[in-house]
Amino acid sequence: MRLKDRKAIVTGAGQGIGKSIALKMAQEGADVAVVEWNPDTGVQTRKEIEALGRRCLFFPVDVADWKQVEKLVAEAATAFGRIDILVNNAGFDRPGSLLKTKEEDWDAVLGVHLKGTLNCIQAVVPRMIEKSYGKIINLSSVWGKRGALSEISYSTAKAGILGLTKSVARELGRYQINVNVVLPGFILTPTVSKMAEKYRNMIIENTSLKRAGQPEEVANVVAFLSSDEASFMTGAEVEVSGGWNM
Ligand SMILES: NC(=O)c1ccc[n+]([C@@H]2O[C@H](COP(=O)([O-])OP(=O)(O)OC[C@H]3O[C@@H](n4cnc5c(N)ncnc54)[C@H](O)[C@@H]3O)[C@@H](O)[C@H]2O)c1
Repeated sequence: MRLKDRKAIVTGAGQGIGKSIALKMAQEGADVAVVEWNPDTGVQTRKEIEALGRRCLFFPVDVADWKQVEKLVAEAATAFGRIDILVNNAGFDRPGSLLKTKEEDWDAVLGVHLKGTLNCIQAVVPRMIEKSYGKIINLSSVWGKRGALSEISYSTAKAGILGLTKSVARELGRYQINVNVVLPGFILTPTVSKMAEKYRNMIIENTSLKRAGQPEEVANVVAFLSSDEASFMTGAEVEVSGGWNM
């Protein structure tokens, strides 16, 4: 129960890594605001959190929309009394090589990852500053660090999250707010499972542990970074990749 009575917001918590993070936080004693633009999966996560005996709020919101984010954070802060933890996990990929990347895909991918992350941070941080306490964890990717073929928008967005994390960590350290970034490798989530077997095998071959990761293996690390056990960590890049990026 490392997160007993903490109040958390987790974006993209309807499935995959975000859902695992939200459930792990509840198992560790936190109340959770689930932010997920798919109402079906979001409601299901809320049911599973409530079954664990924790309070859960559900917001069917697009994180790239500032007005919606501002409203949801105000409602969550009023209902919970404070926000201790923010996990920026919502995202999607629109693969494309340099000359085939369309403007609308670039805007959508940078919108959800960069603007979405910035929106949530800007809405939550004044409440954290008030309490001189806060944990922010952003989800980047190994591809944000090493680049990836035919992933122009996605790898650029994920690289941007590294810069955003460190700049925010520098600015908020004086308020005892920890800001860290997790870089997953190849994690078996519903979206990633659709990848052609040929590519999956290629990544696994290049992964030191010779297997894909499970969403829970990322959630465990995010829960640690959200807890006071990680109190002297800020601005850190934490890879959860099974040794893919060595
Ligand atoms: N799975 C991997 O191998 C992997 C690797 C590296 C990084 N990541 C990152 O981890 C995060 C989670 O990945 P995943 O594989 O679990 O993805 P996923 O597609 O399974 O889940 C993402 C969730 O975010 C929601 N979402 C997307 N855009 C949204 C928006 N604008 N507003 C609100 N909700 C939105 C989706 O509906 C979905 O429920 C993403 O940021 C992804 O880029 C994943």
